[in-house]
Amino acid sequence: MPYDTHSIILGTGRAAPEKILTNADLEKIVDTSDAWIVERTGIRERHIAEPGTGLTPLASEAARKALEDAGIEAEQIDLIILGTVTGDYTFPATACLVQEQIGAKHAAAFDISAACSGFLYSLQCADALMRSVGYRHVLVIGGEVLTSILDWSDRNTCTLFGDGAGAAVLGVGQDGSGLIASHIQSNGEHAHLLYNPGCGSMYPPTPENVDQKVNTIRMEGKEVFRYAVSSMLDGLSKVLARAGLTSEDIDLLIPHQANLRIIQAVGKRLDLPEEKIFINVGHYGNTSAASIPMALDEARRSGRANKGDLVAMVTFGAGFTWAAALVRL
Ligand SMILES: CC(C)(COP(=O)(O)OP(=O)(O)OC[C@H]1O[C@@H](n2cnc3c(N)ncnc32)[C@H](O)[C@@H]1OP(=O)(O)O)[C@@H](O)C(=O)NCCC(=O)NCCS
Repeated sequence: MPYDTHSIILGTGRAAPEKILTNADLEKIVDTSDAWIVERTGIRERHIAEPGTGLTPLASEAARKALEDAGIEAEQIDLIILGTVTGDYTFPATACLVQEQIGAKHAAAFDISAACSGFLYSLQCADALMRSVGYRHVLVIGGEVLTSILDWSDRNTCTLFGDGAGAAVLGVGQDGSGLIASHIQSNGEHAHLLYNPGCGSMYPPTPENVDQKVNTIRMEGKEVFRYAVSSMLDGLSKVLARAGLTSEDIDLLIPHQANLRIIQAVGKRLDLPEEKIFINVGHYGNTSAASIPMALDEARRSGRANKGDLVAMVTFGAGFTWAAALVRL
C-alpha cells in the first residue's frame, strides 16, 4: 500500500579534493593544449584525489555537510543510496562504508551503478522507496574518483574527468515543494561506446590484464556527444510533460557537467537564456555521478537556486543511461 507522501530536499553538501590539476599541468603529461581543451570542452581545471584515498572520505564529507544543512542527525537517516562507478571496492558497497563513517546506525545502504546518471537514478529510487516503504529521511549521494580509472597517456579521456562528491538529504514533503517528476532510462545497445572493461568478472586483475590497462575508461567521444544531447532533451521533455509544464517554467537548469558544448546545445534547443543554466564544468571537469549534486549544492549556496524555484536536472552517461528530474525547492 503506497504511503501518501513525496520527497523534498532538506539539505545539500559537496566535497572535492584539495589538489587541482590545470590544463597547463596536463600539457606536461600528454600531447594537448589548454586552448584545445577549453575550446572543445570548456574545462580549465579539475580536482583530483590523492591515489589510494578512495571515495569514502569525499562522499562522507559531502554527506556530513548535507546533514548539517538539513538540520538532521545521522542517526535519523533510514536509507543511504550512493551513485558511483568508482567505489572503494568491488564489494561491499561504498554506501556501507559511508554509513559507518558518518554514524548513520539505523540506515540501510547500497550503491547504484548508472555512471553519470547515478545521482538521478538514486534520487528516483529514494523517492520510490519513501513512498512504498515509508522511509522518512534518505541520504542520496553521487560521488566518483574517476582519476583512479584514467589512462594518463590517452588525451581523448584523461583531460575530461575529475573527482568529487555531492549529497542531498531527502525528507517527507507536506506542501507543493519537492520531487515533482522524474524519469530514468537506459539503452544497453551502446554499452561499448563508453565503458571501463576491468576489473569485473570479464577482465579480472590478472598481471596480463593489468598490463593492458583494462581498468581504464574507453570512449568514442563523437558518438557519445551525439547521443548525450538527444537523450538529455528526451529526458527533459518526458518530465516536463509528466508535470504539465514547459521549459519556460524552469527557473534553473542543472545539466550534467560533462562538456560545455553539450550543455550549450541542450540550452539552445530548449531556448533557455544563459542565466537559467548552471555551469561549473570549467572548475571540476566531468565528475560523473557527482556532477549534478555538486552543482545543485553550489547553486543553492550561491543563491542561484532559491526556495520556491523550479529546478530541472538532467544527465546522460555510460550504459547508455539518462535521467531527468524536476524539483520545486
Ligand atoms: C571528447 C571530445 C571533447 C572530443 O572532441 P571532438 O571535437 O569530437 O574531437 P575528435 O574526437 O573528433 O578528435 C579530433 C582530434 O582531436 C584530438 N584530440 C582528442 N583529445 C585531445 C586533446 N585533449 N588535446 C588535443 N587533441 C585532442 C584527437 O586525437 C583527434 O585527432 P586526429 O584528428 O589527429 O585523430 C568530444 O567528442 C566530447 O566531448 N565527447 C563527449 C564526451 C563526454 O562528455 N563523455 C562523457 C559523457 S557522460
